[in-house]
Amino acid sequence: MVSAGAILPLTLQQVSVRRRGKRLLGPVTWELQGAGISIVVGPNGSGKTTLLRVLHGIERISEGQIGWAVDLEQARRAQSFVFQAPIMMRRNVRDCIAYPLILRGMRRAAARAAAEDWAQRVGLGAALARPAMVLSGGEKQKLALARALVTEPQVLFLDEPCANLDGRATQEIEAILHDAAAAGTRVVMSTHDLGQARRLASEVIFLHDGMLLEATAAADFFAAPGSAQAAAFLRGDLVL
Ligand SMILES: Nc1ncnc2c1ncn2[C@@H]1O[C@H](COP(=O)(O)OP(=O)(O)OP(=O)(O)O)[C@@H](O)[C@H]1O
Ligand SMILES: [Mg+2]
Repeated sequence: MVSAGAILPLTLQQVSVRRRGKRLLGPVTWELQGAGISIVVGPNGSGKTTLLRVLHGIERISEGQIGWAVDLEQARRAQSFVFQAPIMMRRNVRDCIAYPLILRGMRRAAARAAAEDWAQRVGLGAALARPAMVLSGGEKQKLALARALVTEPQVLFLDEPCANLDGRATQEIEAILHDAAAAGTRVVMSTHDLGQARRLASEVIFLHDGMLLEATAAADFFAAPGSAQAAAFLRGDLVL
């Protein structure tokens, strides 16, 4: 399933998003490269979701350029996105996870076998025949993660995937992300949970009012953030 060429780096040059005359993001000039887990943090409305959608190519940009190392069609097949509130299909768990493989041309039996393997890995091995719709919130999020990872993407984007989960489900998802990153998947994820950022991040991306103020190695970000806004955010001050 892994596509032939490396799709990274993803390069953004002076990218901005405007809607109805309001600037929601940018201009952002930045490159996504290397390995590890980038965690996107910033106050509500700072542009985290918008940035992730831009990176994944599902948000129309108003200015600037964005491009992968390979053509868009190839890049699309090698990346996945996990939404904050996953959209469930009218299928059972096994077929939900198998679906992206079938879309990519894999035979049904092989896709189902891979789906069962991923269901096991995320702790849904006992729920294979259950309709996705009836899963709990945490189970739905695990299903979304399995469906995102079954294609062995080079890059995985996640928008606050643990927002509604309890500590245990969060821990399980963090372990899966950790393993995926260790296996070479480049992870880019937003969170409002600074504890989670500390646990997972190799790099922190800090957004404020649509501006990407920092893309800093995690240890450096938490020890000494480079901007007054990030310092205030880390202290828990209200950042206006
Ligand atoms: N389609 C849209 N039209 C107009 N404004 C929008 C649209 N989508 C988002 N916005 C605005 O863009 C800004 C950035 O929103 P975004 O959802 O990216 O922030 P966020 O950092 O993800 O916030 P949160 O922490 O609440 O998830 C907000 O002010 C939001 O109201
Ligand atoms: Mg958001």
